[in-house]
Amino acid sequence: MDENVQKAVDLILYSEYTIAFTGAGISVESGIPPFRGENGLWSKYDPNALDLGNFHLNPVEAWKVIKEIFYDFFGEAKPNDAHLVLAELEKQGLVKAIITQNIDNLHYDAGSREVYEFHGNSRMLVCPYCDKKVVAEETDLNYIPLCDKCHAVLKPDFIFFGEGIPEEAYKKSVEAAQKADLVIIIGSTGEVVPAASIPPFAKQNGAKVIEINPEESSFTGSITDIFLKGKATEVMKEILNGIKQKI
Ligand code: APR
Repeated sequence: MDENVQKAVDLILYSEYTIAFTGAGISVESGIPPFRGENGLWSKYDPNALDLGNFHLNPVEAWKVIKEIFYDFFGEAKPNDAHLVLAELEKQGLVKAIITQNIDNLHYDAGSREVYEFHGNSRMLVCPYCDKKVVAEETDLNYIPLCDKCHAVLKPDFIFFGEGIPEEAYKKSVEAAQKADLVIIIGSTGEVVPAASIPPFAKQNGAKVIEINPEESSFTGSITDIFLKGKATEVMKEILNGIKQKI
């Protein structure tokens, strides 16, 4: 087994409170493109579609793009081995929580339960005025979804650029980062704050950092202690095999 994977396995086995911090990269092998880098969504779509002000000004235009990116496409995605290994590690008590930037619900679908969705989740649509929520899957998105209480245009329950982080997710993520003595970063460029400030915050509190990514990120040269270069599914399966050999 690769020496660095061995070191990562030992850290995971001996840590008291391990958390995972995941980005779009963990879902790439489920068929969901990342936002940045090769085939990144932001190279095909204008991020402005997810600007809160623009959404309110041009809801029809914005919904056309949102539907295409997040509902027509994401809807079919299934958890991959990286999501499944994280869920297995949670069951074994080796991972205490997952802080995810992803809105694709794949951690939950894989069986993980202590999941803090830093950017919300695409599962529900929410009324910006009366907070009424409806299930996206049960809504015909060929029409602009309207709130049946106040007829406002519904928006996906994930955060747009210019929108605040869901309070509960933020609070739990900061608490987890304070307690963590190990952070496993999987598939993030680390370019979007405040999400990307969570791993450095854990590091400041004494945590070790393992990073899994085929490319270097803004974490690699700054806070990462063990960089495991590779795809999330391959590296996470190696880690699980290494753990199984030791316990
Ligand atoms: N396994 C692991 N990592 C991968 C894989 C893979 N198979 N394929 C790509 N990656 C890595 C890329 O190298 C890159 O570092 O995943 C990362 C994807 O980066 P981004 O698309 O920037 O994703 P993320 O860091 O999650 O973006 C943060 O930006 O647009 C906002 O709200 C959106 O949550 C998102 C945030």
